[in-house]
Amino acid sequence: MQKTILLLAKSAIAARPRAEMEALAEAVAKRLDGTNATHAFSEQGSPSLRERLTELAGAGVPEISIVPAMLPMEPGFPAWIARAVHRWKTHHAGPVPVIRVAHAPLEATEELADILARLASDPGRDIAEKPAAIPDRSAIATQKRRVLVCMGGPCNDAASSSLWQHLRAEQDRLKLRDIGDGMMSCKTSCLGPCNLAPVVQVWPEGTTYCGVNEAALDRIISEHILGGEPVADLLYPPSQKKVALRR
Ligand code: FES
Repeated sequence: MQKTILLLAKSAIAARPRAEMEALAEAVAKRLDGTNATHAFSEQGSPSLRERLTELAGAGVPEISIVPAMLPMEPGFPAWIARAVHRWKTHHAGPVPVIRVAHAPLEATEELADILARLASDPGRDIAEKPAAIPDRSAIATQKRRVLVCMGGPCNDAASSSLWQHLRAEQDRLKLRDIGDGMMSCKTSCLGPCNLAPVVQVWPEGTTYCGVNEAALDRIISEHILGGEPVADLLYPPSQKKVALRR
């Protein structure tokens, strides 16, 4: 097993940008004489950094080079990567590969300028052409409850994407949009208590659930969404004092 390049992008909700990142990783691998290359997302996307690190470590990869694939680079992103990797190392049970972080893309200004100049010389598509139909109507849903799943960096890194997929699957399976009070779900950016990730909130009560896994989410659905009662042993009440996750 050899060193692996890990392209770390910000987010991708749809299938197409995920496929684009896969293709980009393949192209990078080709240029590096077949070195392994893959990708992960820091927010709103799967696999998260943690999921990919676990997969690569499990495959026995000895060294991982993380390449931030972000333009422009957010000033706090390198520190976030370092914290996410340290957190992952603390919780990972098996052997841990050497993990390095490459320079940010904007530090290679000349090479980037070459690429952008090449793209700019292409005639592109005339956006003055109107799409075939522009929808102008939407239904207003009657649902009373709304479940927010945080997809900020720390929550995504704590597998909130899988949690989101589980919630959507259960929402369809149990027809949660239409039964009981009805519910809608949506992804959000940071909800605040990042160190207690992954975080889920249920409104209109504003109940905050932290350290949520699929089993906890199942209880939130059956007891809170369907039963109408917040789950006392899973919720974290508002507090001025900092609290840690109950394990
Ligand atoms: S990233 Fe989820 S609470 Fe901050």
